[in-house]
Order: sequence, then structure tokens, then C-alpha cells
Amino acid sequence: MKEYADPQQARLDAMAAPLLAWYDVNKRTLPWRGTRDPYQIWVSEVMLQQTRVAAVIPYYQRWMAELPDVAALAAVEEEKLLKLWEGLGYYSRARNLKKAAEVILSQHGGQFPRHYGELLKLPGIGEYTAGAVASIAFGERVSAVDGNVLRVAARMALLEGDIMDQQVRREMRQRMNQATPSDRPGDFNQALMDLGATVCLPSGAPDCGVCPLSPACAARAAGRQHALPVRSKKAPRRVEEMTVFLLLCRGRAALRKRDEAGLLAGLWEFPHVPGTLDESQAGTVLAAWGLNPLDWRQKIEAKHIFTHVEWRMTGYLLDVREAQGAFTWADRTELEGMAVPSAFGKYLKEVHRALEEET
Ligand code: ADE
Repeated sequence: MKEYADPQQARLDAMAAPLLAWYDVNKRTLPWRGTRDPYQIWVSEVMLQQTRVAAVIPYYQRWMAELPDVAALAAVEEEKLLKLWEGLGYYSRARNLKKAAEVILSQHGGQFPRHYGELLKLPGIGEYTAGAVASIAFGERVSAVDGNVLRVAARMALLEGDIMDQQVRREMRQRMNQATPSDRPGDFNQALMDLGATVCLPSGAPDCGVCPLSPACAARAAGRQHALPVRSKKAPRRVEEMTVFLLLCRGRAALRKRDEAGLLAGLWEFPHVPGTLDESQAGTVLAAWGLNPLDWRQKIEAKHIFTHVEWRMTGYLLDVREAQGAFTWADRTELEGMAVPSAFGKYLKEVHRALEEET
């Protein structure tokens, strides 16, 4: 019998029944759960990558009100797209959504591809998203393995491989494909996500007492639930220091558009230069930009952590004599329509406040 040949797989195969029973009682009510519309499920899954459920909900609702289907997304202007995504981070996700919508219109006659293998070919759709959409929207028997699911699986079957290792992940995905029931694969995947998010929590916090899988959990039996999954240390983040100029002139603030490639591509930002400059050095930069400072109002420190980089920012809020230089000078209303990444969130707030005071 297979169970005896591979006891770890047997543990994973046995999850479906208790997990689905648990899900039927405990599933979270979420705005994308009342539908099998692949478009809605796809957008929710992309938003949920790297972002918590509670933070995603308002973004999802705004998005669906503005862009209710693939055709609307394919036609949306870049500025509006980025504005809808503002604050979610990883903006290439938004751009890829639009690109994929264009492909669905041009190559699939507007019909959402129904199978895992076809979904995987769309821009921005990887194994996880393809699995989630195929299983939830179309009932295909395929897993959707994110960090939460890796943790649940590693604990259930006492899988000790390093989940930072692609080969280990591939093996876990294959195991989870096999463990996925042909009946209710989408619910199975979402039950795993919910269990991982609310019960089988990381490191010190698993709530084994309420877990429907705990009687069959190998990590629990071995007292290893706190140690799993094994995850090798990431490379340390690179620190980048910069000086940010919050330039005001008669009710307008200076912004510029980031390059169309790289981190935060195409978004609006406040002008900045590398390094931490004092006021006199900052004055030299202003002079080089052809700007004359009138009133240095405030120095404001901020930092922002990305996956691989940390920005440490020194900001100067000041008035300048002329609204010139290679910048876009935006008034309050214009600024509201511009997508500015959350990395500048603290500065954006200060600039809004300063512009409000003036008008
Ligand atoms: N995280 C990612 N996808 C999810 C989903 N469909 N439901 C709940 N949490 C999720």
C-alpha cells in the first residue's frame, strides 16, 4: 500500500477530510469568496501575495468598483492603475495584471484560460497564482502553495528540508498536488491558507489546541512544530541613504516620475539624491537645480524597508522662490491623483499638510 511506502505522503493525503470539515465551520468571510469569477479570484490572489488579508480588502473593493472585468483592466490608463495599487507595493504586479488582461483579450478572445498550464503562461502568473485560480475558479485538482501552506505541510509531514531551496519547494508542491482532493480542490487550498493564517501560525505561535489536524500532525507528535519549517537565513538587506527634497512653491509641490524600469518604476516621487546631506550640502544641490531656497521649514527623517533594500531618508521641507527645474509642480488636487509609493508616505503626508495650510 502507498501509505506504507511513503508515510509522509500518507499524512498529507489524510488532511483533506478533517480540513474541509473545519473549513465549513471556520472559513473566513472574504469579499472574493462569494464568487467563482476567475477575474475576481485572480486579482485577489495577486493582491494577497506579500500583503495581509485585512490590508487587501479595501484595495480589492476599490479595484472591482473601478475595473470590474478583464476588458476594463486591459483598457485602464497606467496612472489610474498605479493609483489603485498605491500602497500595496511591488508595482510590477499591477502592471502584469494589465499585461495579462491584454493577452486574455488578444489571444484568448476575452475568455479566461481555464487550465493551470495555460494560466502559467500569462504575465505575472506563477505556480502559486495559477494553482489558486485553476482550483478555486475552475475546480482543477492542483495545489496553491504559498508560505502558509509550506508551513502547514512541513509540520504535518515533518518535512525538514529548507523551504528557501527551490528543489525543496518543488517537492512540497508535488506532494501537495497529490494531497489535493478532486472534490473541492479550491476549498482545500483556501482551507490550508486559512489554517496557516489563523491557527498553524509561524514560529512560537501555533495554536495546536484548536487545530483540526493536530491529532495527525507529525511535528506535534515529535515536538517540532516550533522549529518547522526550516528556513535558511536570507542575505542581509542593503542600506541606501538618501536626501529627499520636499519643495514647496505657492501651493505646489515638486515631484518627478521614476524611470520606467526598476524598483517602483513609473511612480511619482519627491526629488532626492544619494547620501545623507546636511542643510548646507542640500543647498548646493538646490543651486545646481536652479532653485533658491526661501524658508527651510523642517528636517524629517524616515525609513522604508523593501525586501532587499532599506531606505534611510533625510527629508527637507522648504519653500523655494520659483517653481522651476526639471520637476512637475503639482497642486493639492493634482497630487491626489498621482501614485506615490508608500516609501514616501510620511513625506507625502507632510507635503499634503503644508499645501492644505496654504489654501
Ligand atoms: N491568501 C492568499 N490567497 C488567499 C485566499 N484565497 N483566501 C485567504 N487567504 C489567502
